[in-house]
Amino acid sequence: MKIEYKETTSDLATRIDIHSKFGGRNIDTWMLDLLKIQPGDVILDVGCGSGKQCFSYHAYLNGKADITGGDVDKELLAQARETDQAKGTGIKFIDLDFNQKFPLPDNHYDLVSCCFAIYYAENVPFTISEMHRVLKPGGRLFTTGPMPTNKQLFYDIIREATNNKPIPPMPGSSRYSTEFLATIKNLFSKVEVEIFENPLTFETVEPFIAYTRASLSEDRKLWSTFFQGKEEFEQMMKAIEQAAQKRLERDGKLVMTKVVGGFLATK
Ligand SMILES: C[S@@+](CC[C@H](N)C(=O)[O-])C[C@H]1O[C@@H](n2cnc3c(N)ncnc32)[C@H](O)[C@@H]1O
Repeated sequence: MKIEYKETTSDLATRIDIHSKFGGRNIDTWMLDLLKIQPGDVILDVGCGSGKQCFSYHAYLNGKADITGGDVDKELLAQARETDQAKGTGIKFIDLDFNQKFPLPDNHYDLVSCCFAIYYAENVPFTISEMHRVLKPGGRLFTTGPMPTNKQLFYDIIREATNNKPIPPMPGSSRYSTEFLATIKNLFSKVEVEIFENPLTFETVEPFIAYTRASLSEDRKLWSTFFQGKEEFEQMMKAIEQAAQKRLERDGKLVMTKVVGGFLATK
C-alpha cells in the first residue's frame, strides 16, 4: 500500500516540543528504561527523522555505542547531521528508504528501533523482514506507534467541529496494534507489548491548535474527505478552534492522552 505522507522538520519539531512542554511523562525515559541498552551496543534507528532517539541512546550510554540513524527524508537527515556536528556525537546518519532492501549487512545490529515510522511502510512484512535480517541472532527490534485509543480528544474535537464526519482510517492507529504486531510475531521468537500513556494537559486552546495544525497540515492527503485546499483547511481549523474553546470552557482544561504501544521483539 502506498502511504501519502511527508513529514516536515517544522511540523515534527512542533509536535515534539508540545509533547515535552505539556506532557506529564517523558517517552524517551520510558523507552530507555525498557530497552536497557548496553555500552558497546551496535544500534540502528530506522525512520530516525531529526535523530531524537539516536541522540537519546548516545546520551544514555555517554557515547559508548555505535549508532546509525537512517531516514528517507533529506531535510530531516540534514537537521540530524547538523545536531550531530554541533554536539560532536559521531552518530552516522544515512539515506535509508525502508521500502527498499537496507544498504546494510546481515546479522550486524544488537538493536534496531523504529519509532513512529513503521506504519508508513508500503509493504510491512518486507520492511520488518529487513529489520530482522540486519539484526544479530538474539538482537532486538523495538517499534513504537499509536494504539487505537490514542489521542481520543483530538478526534472527538474534530468530529464535533465537522458534525460527526467519519474520521478516515489513520495508517498508524488503525493497523499498528493488529496487522503490524501480527507481522512481528510471525518473524520473531519472542514479542513483549508495553504501553506508554502520556496525558498532555492544555490550559488554553493555542497549543492544542498548534498540535492539530502540525498533525493535519502535512497529512493533507489522508484528510482529503475533510479539506482540499488551504481555504477549506483554514475553515476547518476555525471550527476546530471553536469546538476546543467550548470544551475548555466546559471542562476547565483539555486533556489529550497519547497512548503508545512499544513492541520489543527478540530475533
Ligand atoms: C513521525 S516521524 C518520526 C521520526 C523520529 N523517529 C521521531 O520519533 O522523532 C516519521 C519518520 O518516518 C520517516 N519515513 C517515512 N517514510 C520512510 C521511508 N520510506 N523510509 C525511511 N523513513 C521513512 C519520515 O521521514 C519521518 O522521519
